[in-house]
Amino acid sequence: MATVALERRPHLIVLGNEKGGSGKSTVAMHVIVALLRDGWRVGALDLDARQATLSGTLAARAAFAERRAIALPSPACRAISRSAADSRAEAEAEEAQRLDAAVADLARESDIIVLDCPGADTNLARLAHARANTLITPINDSFVDFAMLAKVEAENLDVIHPSIYSEMVWAARKRRLARERRQIDWIVMRNRLGNAEARNRRDVGTTLDVLARRIGFRTVRGFG
Ligand SMILES: Nc1ncnc2c1ncn2[C@@H]1O[C@H](COP(=O)(O)OP(=O)(O)OP(=O)(O)O)[C@@H](O)[C@H]1O
Ligand SMILES: [Mg+2]
Repeated sequence: MATVALERRPHLIVLGNEKGGSGKSTVAMHVIVALLRDGWRVGALDLDARQATLSGTLAARAAFAERRAIALPSPACRAISRSAADSRAEAEAEEAQRLDAAVADLARESDIIVLDCPGADTNLARLAHARANTLITPINDSFVDFAMLAKVEAENLDVIHPSIYSEMVWAARKRRLARERRQIDWIVMRNRLGNAEARNRRDVGTTLDVLARRIGFRTVRGFG
């Protein structure tokens, strides 16, 4: 009897934000460990092999567990770097091929793949956003970091226009919806909670709610 090979596609969770140091790699690490503890098979894909924050931390964690003979659930991990090709078209094609090969490779042993983007507008980051099922964008809990999502009127907190990053996420969403009839679930995470003064924090929350409706994301609380 013929067997039917069902295509098993893993769920892709992308950590993205063009702003450096907003907490992408830290949140990626926590998401990976939480998913592993819930019993999922998890793959980790570091899109910044040069900095290697996620892959390096995971390697250190695995080495520590081995030294101490602790049985820690661990993800399969890959890291990819930017192409060194001269022509832009060639570099972008090579990066797309690297990314898809790494995802296909991890997919064989993962239910969920967590992709950690570099903190800049790079082709690899854009490719990852276009493939996301869930996009998590950590932002610092402050108005300074709002510029990353939108330009906001200072007096009445009206949204003047979305940022380049929000426009990029929108474009990725539209393409995905047209191609696969699937939405990207965009989650903005308020990171580093608790340092700002209370009223300011309330305003950040209020403005984020307005932005969430306007731009189309949901918010979650991050780490204090
Ligand atoms: N909630 C938090 N509270 C305190 N420190 C934090 C928090 N989140 C992240 N950090 C620290 O901030 C620094 C930057 O975090 P992280 O490396 O995760 O950011 P990133 O967005 O991945 O940066 P990059 O854009 O360079 O990849 C790290 O030193 C990290 O430990
Ligand atoms: Mg990082």
